[in-house]
Amino acid sequence: MIVAQLSDIHADGSDGRLDRLDRVLSWLRPMRPDAIIVSGDLAEMAHQASYRAIHDRLDATGSPFYVVPGNVDDHGDMRREFGHRFGWPAEGRALNCSAQVGSRLRVIGLDVTVAAGHHGDALPVLDWLAEELDAGGPPALIFQHQHPFLCGIEGKDRNMCRGHDELARVIEKARDPVVALTCGHVHRPMFTRFAGRPAVMCPSVTRANRLHLDGREPEIVDPPGLLLHHFDDERLVTHVVMVS
Ligand SMILES: [Fe+2]
Repeated sequence: MIVAQLSDIHADGSDGRLDRLDRVLSWLRPMRPDAIIVSGDLAEMAHQASYRAIHDRLDATGSPFYVVPGNVDDHGDMRREFGHRFGWPAEGRALNCSAQVGSRLRVIGLDVTVAAGHHGDALPVLDWLAEELDAGGPPALIFQHQHPFLCGIEGKDRNMCRGHDELARVIEKARDPVVALTCGHVHRPMFTRFAGRPAVMCPSVTRANRLHLDGREPEIVDPPGLLLHHFDDERLVTHVVMVS
């Protein structure tokens, strides 16, 4: 079973951003993923038209797909474009989603965005998540926008997902297994652990951030990329793909 993850498309009404998405989707097409998850920041400007264009492209893959908002997304326009697919209510802030992929895996999209904030906060959606993880379903892959772990890149942890300790407790106490948590937001692939599970960040479709670590940085900016989560016999292996 293959779950592809895209993140941080940052569509803005220009062809350039969508061209990068098209390149990533061209790479992905022959893999025929069982599901696609998009971990936020789909559009940063021209939201309505950008969501329409992204929706068309995701539909054309033929794979079921699921999205959560990021800090530059517009909740109203996102709800109008995708709400009917995910049963998002007409009122309320959180645009969460949950779906079974085949019989052995579930994807749970957690909307940790905060109105007018670049950081995230898991606290408002923890009751919903706890209920989802108490439903007796198959193992879950949680995806959200902001990272709930310290990434160590200068300036990027100011805008992480707050309420991370409480989020970790919900995952640790859950009745249903959580195989991993994955996110976007910093525009770089990375791997660590959170709540005793693998925690992953997806590379961006839009321009990557340079890797600033301990006062050092490279000169070359990375190309767009995606993740492929391969789930087989209760074993998850995540592959990073950069599309030049
Ligand atoms: Fe973001």
